[in-house]
Amino acid sequence: MNWKLAARAERMNPSIIREILKVTEKPGIISFAGGLPSPKTFPIAAFAKACADVLAKDGQAALQYAASEGFPALREFVANELAKQSAAAGVPWAIDPAQVLITTGSQQALDLIAKILIDKDSRVLVETPAYLGALQAFTPMEPQYVSIASDDEGVLIDDVKSKIYPVRPELVEGQASASTSSARTDGKARFIYVIPNYQNPTGRSMSEARRAALSQAAREAGLPIIEDNPYGDLWFDAPPPASLTARNPDGGIYMGSFSKTLAPGLRLGFLVAPKALYPKLLQAKQAADLHTPSFNQRLVAEVLKDGFLDRHVPTIRALYKSQCEAMLAALARELAGTGITWNQPTGGMFLWVKLPAHMNSVDLLPKAVERNVAFVPGAAFYADHPQHNTLRLSFVTASVEQINIGIAALAAVLKAAL
Ligand SMILES: Cc1ncc(COP(=O)(O)O)c(C=O)c1O
Repeated sequence: MNWKLAARAERMNPSIIREILKVTEKPGIISFAGGLPSPKTFPIAAFAKACADVLAKDGQAALQYAASEGFPALREFVANELAKQSAAAGVPWAIDPAQVLITTGSQQALDLIAKILIDKDSRVLVETPAYLGALQAFTPMEPQYVSIASDDEGVLIDDVKSKIYPVRPELVEGQASASTSSARTDGKARFIYVIPNYQNPTGRSMSEARRAALSQAAREAGLPIIEDNPYGDLWFDAPPPASLTARNPDGGIYMGSFSKTLAPGLRLGFLVAPKALYPKLLQAKQAADLHTPSFNQRLVAEVLKDGFLDRHVPTIRALYKSQCEAMLAALARELAGTGITWNQPTGGMFLWVKLPAHMNSVDLLPKAVERNVAFVPGAAFYADHPQHNTLRLSFVTASVEQINIGIAALAAVLKAAL
């Protein structure tokens, strides 16, 4: 059969990272490439008990079709937890559980947002670099990406302000296909997508001042903020400043996930949307998968009752902090004075390395794999104009001993290429 693919399917690409991970699946390799949480942190005993309890108490409902919005107890938990965190960060945020949509991973939330907010040629503002999975979710809707210049704290506010509207008239949305619905707008960006806490891929975080400035600029311009926060609970010494959405709840959509605090295999995430937008997201959700698995939602609601996260998440923070410190110490030991630089994450799973401008981390990966160590070349994470002299390291799946061996091997490859 000669299949004629839809234009949007032609635009889909295999995840470069998944392709890279195949190379790194060689036995014995120390991989800093994956984006996986440490399996040591999965609370298996708590889930074993909750499975039995849910099936005994509520087995029929847990195995039945359910409401697209999500399991009420879980929606309530999310609303309360976010309100609690926000109040503690000094920005009260009153969330009605009716604004919470449980999604099949926060990755699905990105897909639903893309479907309801992006037309062909819609301008979408993204960080430099950006989360690859978001680019994959948005790309089939055929947006025009607008990369915002970013520093160690994320997007630069002046650059955001200058790019909300197109500069060149030929980029005005709708000109390419004036008969389509995209002609409805004037080319104003549909939203800005940001990860304020321990960003994937860089591990960087937005300061309070940057958050306040972005929130104010977005509010003044009427620019929606799509805030993705799967890593916010994984802080090392102090919680991050208040969320962007809490500062202007009508001006954005907030996304969170249970992947990094419980287990990613559950595929449980959520979004919080303004009431006016919620019905469209819900319709997109219904079309996508009717609802997120009822059993998983009840299981997690059961595990979470009685303050489980307050006991469990500190153990993840302590583990990741010790692994991050080991990686930073190893990098300092092996690479001081070489001109290679890296950041100092204050939470999350990743750190970001910058090589001298002439170096290309894609070329160095096979050499690293030969020495049994792997990373992700940074170029994969740019919506446009990739910076080839960057790379992402995950510090959470390797032990401290493996980190020491792996960073020494990586440093040998980098120094040989200097
Ligand atoms: C920034 C970001 N957003 C969303 C996701 C998707 O997470 P999940 O679908 O497991 O909730 C990830 C996964 O790594 C991520 O790094």
